[in-house]
Amino acid sequence: MHPVQAPHPATRFRRLRRTGALRALVQENTLTTGDLIWPVFLCDGVNQRQPVASMPGVERLSLDLIAGAAAEARDLGIPAICLFPYTDPSLKTADCREAWNPENLTNRAIRAIKTKVPDIAVMTDVALDPYNAHGHDGLVVDGVILNDETVEALVRMALAQAEAGADILGPSDMMDGRIGAMRAALEAAGHRDVAILSYAAKYASAFYGPFRDAVGATGALKGDKKTYQMNPANSDEAIRLVARDLAEGADMVMVKPGMPYLDICHRVKQAFGAPTFAYQVSGEYAMIQAAARNGWIDGEKAMVESLMAFKRAGCDGILTYFAPAVAKLLRG
Ligand code: PBG
Repeated sequence: MHPVQAPHPATRFRRLRRTGALRALVQENTLTTGDLIWPVFLCDGVNQRQPVASMPGVERLSLDLIAGAAAEARDLGIPAICLFPYTDPSLKTADCREAWNPENLTNRAIRAIKTKVPDIAVMTDVALDPYNAHGHDGLVVDGVILNDETVEALVRMALAQAEAGADILGPSDMMDGRIGAMRAALEAAGHRDVAILSYAAKYASAFYGPFRDAVGATGALKGDKKTYQMNPANSDEAIRLVARDLAEGADMVMVKPGMPYLDICHRVKQAFGAPTFAYQVSGEYAMIQAAARNGWIDGEKAMVESLMAFKRAGCDGILTYFAPAVAKLLRG
């Protein structure tokens, strides 16, 4: 696009910035509660609200509180909630079998929400890191993360989540071939309408640190995730991954982290036009909260500005720990 404009003073950009009314008239992008997916950390127990130290304002909620949280989100106009379990260390095994236990924390939470708050969309995380002691997203043998064996395990996990009533599956594991395998298994099992939001372009990022605290994986992770998550230096590879996942049957795609990767969000939306999401991850949330708590930035304004940036970059929605706070603000 090459906008035509007269030279100064015929064109004065400040004319349309003069008042709030004029600014509102020419605003190009909007942020609404309908753009939000709220990631929530789940724990076992009763009436538990465990603060996550590195994510001020975020708490792990016990299973009995999760439907209440979902109702609160629904009442705020948030269309989807995404579940991340804090798994009891005694349930972590090398084969990760708790991942496809129909009675695991996530699956019980899905059923609790779908029973009490059926109109909110429930999204899950499909990856093995909560279920093994080494904190990797796949099965590990002799220090190597096995791709195809992991995909088989992920398919079992995805089917159990679909069976429990999940609306959206979020494979965050970055194994090759998992979207096609999951899509085929879902079709075969009659789960035709379960959507997949693929973490298609997920980078090996330092910004996941607080999340690993929240799910109890911090001390556990051996090494890094660079053999499966993307190199932060790459951009074309993200496009190829998104193309691959869409071709295998993903309904929606995600770029993760968010703010440092707005260029990728923009490229992905421009290239495919598919429903595109960004995950404003734990480290991004923690940075804004930490600076705000120190009085160094205005936390509320930084929150809104950071989320608006995703809309401007072309995202259809954002996974953000700010979801309830920003929804309250947007609702006035
Ligand atoms: C793991 C997973 C991670 C996040 C979502 N799913 C962490 C990782 O890949 O190590 C990060 C989310 C965040 O930082 O907010 N399957």
